[in-house]
This record gives sequence, structure tokens and C-alpha cells, in this order.
Amino acid sequence: GPTHEPIDPVRYIANRSSGKQGYELAAAAANLGADVTLVSGPVSLADPAGVRVVRVTTAKQMLEAVEAALPADIAIFAAAVADWRVAAPSPSKIKKSASNAPPALTLAENPDILKAIAQMRKGRPALVVGFAAETQDLLAHAKKKLKSKGADWIVANDVSPQTGVMGGDNNAIHLLTSTGVESWPEMSKTDVAIKIVE
Ligand code: CTP
Repeated sequence: GPTHEPIDPVRYIANRSSGKQGYELAAAAANLGADVTLVSGPVSLADPAGVRVVRVTTAKQMLEAVEAALPADIAIFAAAVADWRVAAPSPSKIKKSASNAPPALTLAENPDILKAIAQMRKGRPALVVGFAAETQDLLAHAKKKLKSKGADWIVANDVSPQTGVMGGDNNAIHLLTSTGVESWPEMSKTDVAIKIVE
């Protein structure tokens, strides 16, 4: 799912990810007998059966939880991690000022969790799978991510609003590996997860 990056105690920056694809992956892996830790952002989904669930809020917390869950044979990064956080969240609720000038938010870059794990020198999971969420030039961007992140596979999906992928129950993915690209027809996120895990 997403991460939430606080602006002040009552507001945050987030995105439209539901967490469904990640939860289905965790469930599918557990069903095939894997010992699974699911590190989850804030979502409204029930814990999959037979899975250890670690709930976090921010990208920084997600990185810490992922590191704590290692070692692992396989690591799959399906979260829609916020790329930026508010550099200095306000400890109290930001009030409308008398002049009514909107507050300026200064952002700082969040850690790239997939990249950090894929490029570990020691103890790197044998198979590292990332996702690519794109709204344009899907395959070109996904191909770049395969290299720049250091992942073994990239699962690319088009998350433009008209596809209904973000928040929806279906997904149409392209699986990129060092040997090429497989494009799968649209299917349920459950079936995508089963097929990836198999
Ligand atoms: N990811 C991550 N940590 C981040 C950002 C992304 O681990 N801070 C992971 C995602 O979980 C996914 C992959 O990196 O597996 C690609 O995420 P995506 O949102 O498609 O791309 P970004 O890396 O954020 O790059 P851009 O926003 O430029 O598309």
C-alpha cells in the first residue's frame, strides 16, 4: 500500500495505492508454503492468513521494518512508497494564518527501499522483485528501473486513472527480467499474485 508522510499531527501526504496487490502476493506465497513477512503501509485490508504482518506508517519506518525482516530468500517490493516526506513536520496543527497565505511545504527525499535491499553487499535476498507504477512510457521506464534499482525482476503496471489499477481488483502486468519481457492479459490481482509466486 501507500506510506503516509506527516505534514502535522492531523495531515499527511499519501497516494491512491490500496495495498491489494501486495496483500495478494503475501497470501499467494503463504499458500504455497513460504514463510512470509508482510511489511504494510496504512491500508484497510485484513491480515492474510498465515502471514506475519508488520504495520508501518512512513517510508523510513518501512525501510527499518524491511531490514528487520531479513534475511529472506525472496523480497518483493509492491508498496507505493512516498518518494518525498515533509522535511520538518509541524509538531502542532498548522493554523490558517491571519494573512491567509498558504503554508509552503519543503520536501525531503525518502530512502529508496527496493534499491537499498537490491544493492546490499552482504545478505541480499537471492531474488529481488520490484514494481514499476507508470502513467506513460510504461516499458521504457520499467526497463530503466530494472537497471537503476538493481532488481532481478520488475513487475510493470500502468496506473493511469482510466486503467482502474490503483484501488481496483484487476491488474495487467508486464514482467521484466534480464532475458526479456512477458506481457500478461488483464486478470484479478489474486491471479496476478498466484502467477508471480508460481
Ligand atoms: N520504491 C521503494 N522506495 C521508494 C520508492 C519506490 O522501495 N522510496 C520501490 C517500489 O516499491 C517499487 C519500485 O521502487 O518496487 C518502483 O516504484 P515506483 O513508484 O514505480 O518508482 P519510483 O522509484 O518512485 O520512481 P518514479 O517516481 O520516478 O517513477
